[in-house]
Amino acid sequence: MATILISDDDFKKFQEFFYRKTGIQFETSKRYFVDKRLVERINATGNDSFRSYFTFLRFQTSGVELQALVNLMTVNETYFFRESYQFDCLVNAILPEIVAGKKDRSPIRIWVIPSSSGEEAYSIAISLTERWAGINDWDVEIISSDIDTGILEQARRGMYSARSIKHLPKAYFLKYFRQVDDQFQLSADMRSAVEFTHVNLMDPKDVRPYRNFDVIFCRNLLIYFDDVSRKQAAETFYDALRPEGFICLGHSESMSRISSLYKIRKFSEAIVYQKPGDGK
Ligand SMILES: C[S@@+](CC[C@H](N)C(=O)[O-])C[C@H]1O[C@@H](n2cnc3c(N)ncnc32)[C@H](O)[C@@H]1O
Repeated sequence: MATILISDDDFKKFQEFFYRKTGIQFETSKRYFVDKRLVERINATGNDSFRSYFTFLRFQTSGVELQALVNLMTVNETYFFRESYQFDCLVNAILPEIVAGKKDRSPIRIWVIPSSSGEEAYSIAISLTERWAGINDWDVEIISSDIDTGILEQARRGMYSARSIKHLPKAYFLKYFRQVDDQFQLSADMRSAVEFTHVNLMDPKDVRPYRNFDVIFCRNLLIYFDDVSRKQAAETFYDALRPEGFICLGHSESMSRISSLYKIRKFSEAIVYQKPGDGK
């Protein structure tokens, strides 16, 4: 197999293209990671240079190659009960406030984006089942979305490594998991509590159907975006939320620097953001 080189110029072209498609900005320091994956796809698709591959990538109408590349380039790091103080906040403060204001008794809708392999959405489902008394009286819909189609398949299977469940409380492990060889599968009941969908947060036609959410979890995605994409994400969430709906971000992410659309809410467990009500 011929050695394929990615020049600085090629890298810049690709960086710009990938950013436009996904909102993800690869720093030059990620060069090794990006080049390695590009070369893998150039070889796998039978191309012999970056140039021919890039033409193929951009003009393939089905978008199959772009999806394959996205699946390879995304960083899917996650685990059960990551940054769990926000699940405490959800159970102790956010949900009680939502139900107090919900006169129509419509289902409580929670959107987890990005989903990655599902640990976050399933942690929410487990937290609500185990710790929120309202679960018996309210319908809850949990939708979990990601741009990476491969990781969504994994999420639906609910099969996890020991590393994924390291921070999962033992009692929940015993109740909801069974061992399959050296993996651990979440119970079918819990798996059916979450719907997984394919969404590119940066694509307006993908996000348009996502409306009327009470809570959005968007954790550890905005760190990969630049300010322009973060602002677009903040506006997308604004449209997707009900008035007075909440957003939880990752611990190193903040809405205040990105957008003035939201109120800051300081609860004892976490700081979250809230869309103002109709009366502002
Ligand atoms: C580091 S994981 C975070 C997972 C989880 N929210 C957490 O905090 O543990 C980042 C995920 O963002 C997804 N992602 C990247 N760009 C995206 C986009 N434009 N739209 C939707 N998901 C995206 C990746 O596929 C990856 O699974």
